[in-house]
Amino acid sequence: MRRVAILVSGGGSNMVAPVRSMTGDHPARPVLVASNDPAAKGLERAAELGVPVAAVDHRPFRGDRAAFEAELLEPILAARPDILCLAGFMRVLTAEFVGRFAGRMLNIHPSLLPKYPGLHTHRRALEAGDAEAGCTVHEVTPVLDDGPILGQARVPILPGDTAGTLAARVLGMEHRLYPAVLRRFAAGDRTPVFLP
Ligand code: GAR
Repeated sequence: MRRVAILVSGGGSNMVAPVRSMTGDHPARPVLVASNDPAAKGLERAAELGVPVAAVDHRPFRGDRAAFEAELLEPILAARPDILCLAGFMRVLTAEFVGRFAGRMLNIHPSLLPKYPGLHTHRRALEAGDAEAGCTVHEVTPVLDDGPILGQARVPILPGDTAGTLAARVLGMEHRLYPAVLRRFAAGDRTPVFLP
């Protein structure tokens, strides 16, 4: 059984979907949900799902990423994860942290990478006049929103879409894509998943 730790910063809906999927014959189980924000709604939702939680507030570290990560690493290492999933985790991680989990850290990003790494992905897709948008699960490397693609899901962009309506449509696909990729990845298969 593979052990999965998940990092969240916000509502954690991209944590809930994979956590709910890890039952029965699934090759993995959730062992920790951690956040850089002690008030993150995702922590509450994880606790309700019976997953151990931890929080390390990044703010007192005032931009000292290495010191913040050293603290964050404590509960993570104690949980002995085989796989570390970023699920709406909004802190940039140092190359050293990423290196510790090389080949076993995943991230979900709300665009069809390599298009639109970084923030405001939906607004950027609309402004570019794209016909479609989507989300990507990729292996995390030290370069932000880069790394081998493990899955992608596409949605149409519809007339009258706003960043909000598009984000909601993409988020619905994120909740399908992350569990699908995680199941395959935890079984040792890195063949990309393409939805729908
Ligand atoms: C999701 O759309 C996720 O793809 C995005 O933040 C949202 C978090 O929602 N992640 C990033 O932008 C990472 N750079 P959630 O907290 O409900 O999972």
